[in-house]
Amino acid sequence: MKNRIHGLVPGYIREIVPYRPGKPIEEVERELHMHPIKLASNENPLGPSPRAIEAAHKALAGSNRYPDGSAFYLREALAARHKIPAENIIPGNGSTELIDLAARTVLVPGDTGVTAQGSFPLYYIAIRSVGAHLVEVPLRDYTFDLDAIARCVTPDTKLIYLANPNNPTGTMFTADDLDSFLARIPEHILVVLDEAYCDYVEDRNYSRSLDLVRGGESLLVLRTFSKVYGLAGLRVGYGIGPADLLAEMNKIRMPFNTSGVAQAAALAALDDAEHVRLSVESNRAGLAQLQTGLGVLGLHVIPSVTNFILTEFGYHTEPLCQELLQCGVIVRPMGWMGFPNAIRVSVGTSAENDKFLHALADVLSKSAAHKFETHKERK
Ligand SMILES: Cc1ncc(COP(=O)(O)O)c(C=O)c1O
Repeated sequence: MKNRIHGLVPGYIREIVPYRPGKPIEEVERELHMHPIKLASNENPLGPSPRAIEAAHKALAGSNRYPDGSAFYLREALAARHKIPAENIIPGNGSTELIDLAARTVLVPGDTGVTAQGSFPLYYIAIRSVGAHLVEVPLRDYTFDLDAIARCVTPDTKLIYLANPNNPTGTMFTADDLDSFLARIPEHILVVLDEAYCDYVEDRNYSRSLDLVRGGESLLVLRTFSKVYGLAGLRVGYGIGPADLLAEMNKIRMPFNTSGVAQAAALAALDDAEHVRLSVESNRAGLAQLQTGLGVLGLHVIPSVTNFILTEFGYHTEPLCQELLQCGVIVRPMGWMGFPNAIRVSVGTSAENDKFLHALADVLSKSAAHKFETHKERK
């Protein structure tokens, strides 16, 4: 596009640093001629619910028709599940679509959007993509610093993104913390609360977000079928928020943003409590396995309430992740998310976690110490 057309693209879009998805398994197979394990995108290692697979198969036969763009049955089921009217629920092509849609609905160039530095990059991209000014507030103890964010609010602030739990740190703030925060935020500001990993959190002080929406807060809560429900590849998420806001968002969302197959699978997954239970249990065991294993290697692990763990190494981790890739393990170096000395590893099956821990021990004990330390000195 390096011609005159490029000049049409506003500077604020040209300056955006692109999102870096985890390396697809197929890419590693192509390049390294091996079948790797992927612990890079916080997916459900158990796969989708068998009932979701069956429902998706059935729905495939109707794929000559456009889907129900309003996702009526899925929204009805979610409404019953969350005890909230269906008009308070909006379907998304993954919850990430709704991150973008929220910014496009409320921000104009010159407004300000606020989020944390060291959080999910799609918040920054959404704010910048509409020409709004981005304010990034440093984390405190690897967690959203709600107090500092509240202090940053100015008359130009229109939108605040919060991730609870946060990606990539795996940390959370409590329901009481959120209450105190919202009490300080003017009502004309939209707070988007991304709860993609909520199903893994076992802390009883976690969230009362849906009560807040029911109580009329200016809050848009985002949930997804990509994590505990194991449907990341089908792209379904949803937002729960004020009906009048969702009505405006609906005007500019693509009319068929969730496919019929995805809606059918999500509906079936929602009903498969057993698969959710197994997934949460397996994650609990996997987190413990990884936390212990990383601790044994003497690494600084950030305690996680999610299905991934951030680990600090004290030196730049790109080369380390390359070495792990050669061993058939895909994990993410976290420089692009603000943690150049860390990797984030997703919880896999017990065998996958084991393979990762062995590969890491191997890499660290062989040439690694020397090589990575040298890298640190050069930095
Ligand atoms: C903070 C956060 N929000 C949302 C998502 C999920 O996105 P989606 O529902 O579009 O798959 C992720 C997935 O990685 C995430 O880390």
